[in-house]
This record gives sequence, C-alpha cells and structure tokens, in this order.
Amino acid sequence: MDRREDAVKAPLSSEEAVQRSTRPQRYRNTAAVIDRTQAHFDEAHRRGLMAVYCRPTEGRAILLARAKRQGMVATDFVRCSYLGLDNHPLVIQGAIAAIEEYGTLHWSCARTRLNFAMIGTLEERLSQLFKARVIAYSTVMVANLGALPLIASGHLTGSRKPVMVFDQFAHASLAFHKPVVADETRVETISHNDLNALEQICRKHRLVAYVCDGVYSMGGYAPIPELLRLQERYGLFLYIDDAHGISIFGEHGEGFARSRMPDELGERTIIAASLGKGFGASGGMLMLGTARQEALFRCYSVPHAFSASPNVAALGAAIASIGIHSSGELAARQSQLVERITFFDARVRTAQHGALLPIRLVRIGDEFEAIDFAERLLDAGFYTSVTFFPTVARGQAGVRICLTASHDFANLARLCRGINRQRGSAIHAE
Ligand SMILES: Cc1ncc(COP(=O)(O)O)c(C=O)c1O
Repeated sequence: MDRREDAVKAPLSSEEAVQRSTRPQRYRNTAAVIDRTQAHFDEAHRRGLMAVYCRPTEGRAILLARAKRQGMVATDFVRCSYLGLDNHPLVIQGAIAAIEEYGTLHWSCARTRLNFAMIGTLEERLSQLFKARVIAYSTVMVANLGALPLIASGHLTGSRKPVMVFDQFAHASLAFHKPVVADETRVETISHNDLNALEQICRKHRLVAYVCDGVYSMGGYAPIPELLRLQERYGLFLYIDDAHGISIFGEHGEGFARSRMPDELGERTIIAASLGKGFGASGGMLMLGTARQEALFRCYSVPHAFSASPNVAALGAAIASIGIHSSGELAARQSQLVERITFFDARVRTAQHGALLPIRLVRIGDEFEAIDFAERLLDAGFYTSVTFFPTVARGQAGVRICLTASHDFANLARLCRGINRQRGSAIHAE
C-alpha cells in the first residue's frame, strides 16, 4: 500500500479532531471573529479608546483616571443616558435611601425563593406606568436570555412551537441565543426590516415569532405599525427589544415600541427594555401581556433561578425615576433631547439625519481610519464610541455618538465642528 495514503487514513487523535473540526457553524463563530478583529481591538486599546477608566463630573463630563490621558476632562457621548437621568439628584438619592433602609445591597439567592419587597413595589409601579405586566432584571441581556428559550418552547403560543425569525441586525444579546433556540425550534434570519421576507415565512408556517430591536443601537428602528399588521393578519408573535427606546418616547416614557401599540399588549407581544439607559437607573425589564406569561416567566425563565434581580440601590434609583416619569419633567427632558438631536443634524450629515432617535453614526469605512478619527476627537475633548466589525459590517467602521438632553449646546457645536473639520464636510457654515 502507498505510504502517503496510509498517512492520510491514519486516525486523528481526539485532540487533533477537536482542532481540525470542520463542522459548519450556523450561528456563532467566535474563533473567526477574534481572528478578524484582534488587530482593531488592539489598536483601539493602544490609543486609549477602549476600556477607559474615569469618574463622572458635571453633566456629561468625565475625568479620565488612568493611562496617558489621566487627569483630562472630556465630554462623554458614549453613555446611553439619553435624558441625563443617570446623575439626577432624585435618582441618586433614591439609591442611597434604599440602601440605608434595607441595610444590604444584594441577596445571593434565586428570585423563585426570596425577593426584596422593594422589587414588588417597583414591578407594580412599572406595570401601571407602562400598562403591562412588568418583570425587572439586572440587565436587558439577562432578560433576553430568559425570554427567548421560553418563546421557542411554544408555551407562550398554545403549546405550539413557533418558527423564530431574527432580524439580521437584532442585538448581539438576542442573536447570541440562536443556538439555544435552535435546539427547541426552527430558526431563520432575515434581512434588516425585511417585511416581505417575514410575510413569506408567516404564509408558510402556522406560528411565527419575530425577534428584533425597537430602536437599533447602530441607528434605525423597527417598523412597528407594519409588524402589528402582520400580527393581526397571521398571529405573528413579536419580541421587541426596546432597550434604547424606553423613556425617550411616550407620555410616560413607555418607549418607542410600547407607545405605538394599543393599550392592551395582548398575548402575542413582549417588549424588553432597559432601566439603565434613558430610564437613568440600572437593570432591564420585560413588559408582558398576560397572567399566564407572567407565571411562566416567574417560574421558568432561567435568570429567576439565580440572583439576577436588580440590587437594592438599583431598585431605589428606579423607583425614584418612576417619579420623574410620572411628572412634567419627563416631557421637558424629552423635548430638550429633541432640540439637541435637531441641533446636531443641522450641522453633521449622517444616515440617521432627521430621525428623532438619539443615536448617530458617523461612517468612516476603514477600521484604522475610524480609530484615528475617534482618537482625534478624544484629544479635542470628546469621547465617542469607535465602532467596527462585529458591531457593524466589515469596512463600515465609524464613530457612534449618543446625544442626551443634558449635553450643552456650545459643547455640541464644538463636537460638530471637530467632526466636520476631520471629514471636510460641514452641512452649512456655523
Ligand atoms: C437592543 C439592546 N438590547 C440589549 C442591550 C444590552 O443591555 P444591558 O446592558 O442592559 O444588558 C443593548 C445594549 O446597549 C441593546 O442595544
């Protein structure tokens, strides 16, 4: 026998078999992502653009605490505190008072066992505010982790498993669960906001659940009225992660998605949202439509089996923020945000121009050029997020800017000038 053939046929050791695995990866490829992005992450860290340590000072200012820019003050355009509530005196006081009252920060136990009485109060008040059955979590990511397998199980849809359709741009904290969901049911991914593709799938399958963001963290939003029409026509189940849309839309800050829905959420819609972005406290939440859903979540959602409750400071802060959401201050802050968005749009051209959402992406293209761009902005006193693959597509890197109600206009004007100077493209003379 030919010796080479013999060598080819020699069985692989189990270690070699692991390393040479050619099993196709359908939903995740962590190894490839690291291989493709390592140079960009390394460079962004080296330039002091990632893993920045700082202290908050006045308003949106931060004092950098380490590395080569130690002691520098910059204006932050990274935090998603769109209404500027994260350092609101009432929110801070709510957190301190809660700690003092309870004398503890965190209970290491499952929510299926012990719950702080205060989380009951928070959930009741959020439920009234947003006309839904609200459950609070320590983060939105944790809320999503619990929710998606339950939807896939079919127990929210009359014991019939839905085909789960993900928008291609659904947030990483949703897409991450595709392999787990695929273990329960069929998973499809469609192009961003592709209603035709979604309708085709609805025509083919009796039960379909669609998973998307309400407001997308890299710009854009879900077509809520059209999704509701598909729901009416085909019974489409909607899971909408409105982490970024909460507080900045709606009379009581019910969010981008909830404010476009009927009073009754019904049995085919769940909305996830953040307590830590526009809301200004910390944590995440789910808005559910029925008692049956709530009972299932409180028993079977995985985070309920562990200590995934917001801690006491977060609960106190969130209850204080409900007070602000129930007062005239909310509308005032919402309009201050809109004024800043309009001001920015009048000066800097982005693909999000004109949308009343606070996220703007200045597209650069090349990853290293985007890193240069963000570093020059930081040296001029503006901390923005440099974004590249896997957050956005390869070759479409850019700088993300989160506008808030408490950015001051003079500062914003300087940021816009800094961006336009680098791009050489002012919309009009300032
Ligand atoms: C749509 C969406 N969902 C979830 C998250 C994660 O939220 P959290 O940090 O509360 O886990 C984000 C992050 O910004 C997001 O954009």
